[in-house]
Amino acid sequence: MIRKAVFPAAGFGTRFLPATKASPKEMLPLVDKPLIQYGVEEARAAGVRNMIIVTGRGKNAIEDHFDVAYELEDLLQKKGDGAQLATVRAITDMADFFYVRQNMPLGLGHAVLRTMDLVGEEPFAVVLSDDVIDSKVPVLRQMIDVYERYSADSVLAIQRVPREHVSRYGIIKGKRIAEGVYEVLDMVEKPKPARAPSDLAIIGRYILSPAIFPALVKTRPGAGGEIQLTDAIRSLAGRERVLAYEFEGVRYDAGNKLGFLMANIAFALKDPELGPDLRVFLAKEKKR
Ligand code: UTP
Repeated sequence: MIRKAVFPAAGFGTRFLPATKASPKEMLPLVDKPLIQYGVEEARAAGVRNMIIVTGRGKNAIEDHFDVAYELEDLLQKKGDGAQLATVRAITDMADFFYVRQNMPLGLGHAVLRTMDLVGEEPFAVVLSDDVIDSKVPVLRQMIDVYERYSADSVLAIQRVPREHVSRYGIIKGKRIAEGVYEVLDMVEKPKPARAPSDLAIIGRYILSPAIFPALVKTRPGAGGEIQLTDAIRSLAGRERVLAYEFEGVRYDAGNKLGFLMANIAFALKDPELGPDLRVFLAKEKKR
C-alpha cells in the first residue's frame, strides 16, 4: 500500500557545526552506519521500495552512499573480503533511490512539497532520519498497520514528552479512540508549555495522504519563518481522517549533540563486538 518514503535531508544541520559545515548531518555515523541508512532500512523493513531523498548543496555524499562504489567493490573482491563486499552491495540493492533538490531550506513542509511530482496521487511515508527509533517492529510498519486497521488517511507518530520540552515539537490535541491511537483534532507547532494542548509530541515519522500537497502549496511561513509540515497537516485534520499513534520503541533525538551521543552509546552497548569493552570503559570513566 505505502510504496514510497520521503527523506527530507536538505537542512543545514546547524546544531552540529562545525561537523556539518561541508558534510551532511544525515551522514553522521551511528556506530558504523550513517543516520539516514537506519531510516532507509526501517522503511525497507516496513515494505517500502522507493526512497525519495530531498537533498541540497553539500549533500552529494548521500547520493554516493546509496550508489554503486565500483572501485571499492573491486578492491574488496580482489582482497577476498566477501563479508564487507556484501555489506557494501546490500546498501545499493536495498531499494530504488530518487533525488530531488530543495534549493533553499525553507522548512520541512517546503522540503516535502518538492517531492509532489515524484510521489503523485498516493499515500506515502515521511522519515526524518535524525529521529532514530530502536524497536522490535519497525515504527513505519507499526504505523502502516494502524493506517490500514483504522482506514486512516494520514498517521503521525507521537510520543509523550516532558511539559518543559513541548516547545521543541509539534503538539497534537487528540481524541483517544484506542490504546495509543488518537484522532487528531488540532495541532500546534512549537507551543509554549502553557499553551500546549497536550504533551503528545509529533516525532519524525508520518504517513500522509496526497492531499498534503495542495495543502502545502497554500501554507504560509509559520514558526521560525519556515513552511511547516505541521501547519499543512493541521489543515487536513478537519477534512480527512488524521490519526496519531504512540509507537512502541525507544527514540533518540540524534539531531542534537547529546541525543546523538546517547544513541551512539546505546547502539554500541547492544553491539556484540563493541558492547562488552565499551561497558568496561564507561565503568572506568564513571570512577574518574
Ligand atoms: P531540522 O529541524 O533538524 O533542521 O530538520 P536541520 O537544518 O537539519 O538542523 P538544525 O536545526 O539546523 O541543527 C529536520 C529534518 O528536515 C530536513 C533536515 O535535513 C532534517 O532531516 N529539512 C529541514 C529539510 O530537508 N529542509 C528544510 O528546509 C528543513
